[in-house]
Amino acid sequence: MTDKATLTIGSEEYELDVFTGSENETCVDIQKLRAQSGIITMDQGFGNTGSCFSSITYVDGAKGILRYRGYPIEELAEKATFVETAYLILYGELPTEKQLLSFRQQIAEHAPIHTNLEHHFSGFPKSSPPMAILSAMLNLVSCFHPEVLDVHSEGPEFDRTAALLLSKVRTISAFSYRMAAGKPFNHPNPNLTYCGNFLHMMFSEPYQEYAASPVIERALKLFLVLHADHEQNCSTSTVRVVGSSRANLFSSVAAGVCALWGPLHGGANAAVIRMLSDIKTSGKSINFYLDKAKEKNSDYKLMGFGHRVYKNFDPRSIILKKRVYEVLDELKKDDPLLEIAIELEEKTLKDDYFKERNLYPNVDFYSGILLRAIGIPLDMYTVMFAIGRMPGWISNWRELLEHNQRISRPRQIYTGKNERKFVPLDER
Ligand code: SDX
Repeated sequence: MTDKATLTIGSEEYELDVFTGSENETCVDIQKLRAQSGIITMDQGFGNTGSCFSSITYVDGAKGILRYRGYPIEELAEKATFVETAYLILYGELPTEKQLLSFRQQIAEHAPIHTNLEHHFSGFPKSSPPMAILSAMLNLVSCFHPEVLDVHSEGPEFDRTAALLLSKVRTISAFSYRMAAGKPFNHPNPNLTYCGNFLHMMFSEPYQEYAASPVIERALKLFLVLHADHEQNCSTSTVRVVGSSRANLFSSVAAGVCALWGPLHGGANAAVIRMLSDIKTSGKSINFYLDKAKEKNSDYKLMGFGHRVYKNFDPRSIILKKRVYEVLDELKKDDPLLEIAIELEEKTLKDDYFKERNLYPNVDFYSGILLRAIGIPLDMYTVMFAIGRMPGWISNWRELLEHNQRISRPRQIYTGKNERKFVPLDER
């Protein structure tokens, strides 16, 4: 639905289209503004700028709503498997029994990686950051599957490529952990679930097959479902920017991995655990850390707090907090970091600095404690986020092609030197 807005600059008036989405979000389309006026808009960090029209995920930051293709995250977290959720995000509908079986078979079929690709792991130093390995190896997959370089947004080639990528990201991630631990690779077992197979590839030993408990498998499923998509976050926007040049899907998601790595984004889940561990071992009070985060010129932030969109609770954080208790209870474990996290959250809820800035726990605040309970090593936390987000990245890459979106090329306002003459070396 379109309406009109009038922008008055000086004595000039410019008429712009106004669009309203299916959830009554409204935007002013400024695509014609520069041609009409020579004027551009500025929105550093794009916090107020729409980059696309999308039907994949809806987030209402004020109400703490998250839906994948219209289904509330609370329902999917409880009732859907990760493979069902991935299918929903990719194809727009929950799969029928037949569709799910075929999707599962494709994922199982593509779980192994080329033996020559396996050899590349031996080239990495054992101390290599797993996110560096993941990004590199995702690009390398296309060297062994050149057919994926020319995949478009629909048809059996896309279906196969999406399943291949969803499957191989899991194998590559597990192999990066085994390589760093100096352990032999565990090859995928097609008879296991998506999560069960990952845990097998991570933790089976030559002398003992790893058998995931239903509690652990359900906890991992929950983690992946909650991370499967989140509209135009930093890494998904990166996938879209790279894909907008019509770069192939593998190089686009490899770029998404690099964006996710940052501590302000996906790297926050591990940073939260490091922060809570600091609080536990430093002997300093929680108030010391709160005060440090509130210092005006300090770039110290409470990791796991705040969000560009959620100015209320992140619904994923609420689900994770509840589940963490259940998992620890079912595993008869306790985690002193959980108690510190709870106390930290309670203090921020009463603190004007955090309340005035709408800083609530985000998805990363409790997810690390869940990964600890599952037994995932700390340096693999952001890799786990990447595995979860893969359906969202693939679906957004596909959508931009379906919409035949133009190449991303933002403008700027130049603030440098005005024209000047070259100065010969002997006069400088
Ligand atoms: C994810 O976008 C997504 O959807 C991302 C994600 C997804 O699913 O893809 O949800 C996943 O990345 C979650 C966010 C994980 N990152 C962290 O937990 C890192 C800590 N959080 C902050 O770095 C920050 O809150 C961001 C990056 C999440 C949001 O940054 P914004 O929107 O640019 O907010 P801002 O920096 O403009 O902050 C506004 C104010 C500032 O204070 P003032 O200048 O107004 O005095 O709030 C302060 C900030 O200093 N602030 C914090 C804070 N976050 C913001 N102060 C202390 N601790 C924090 N965590």
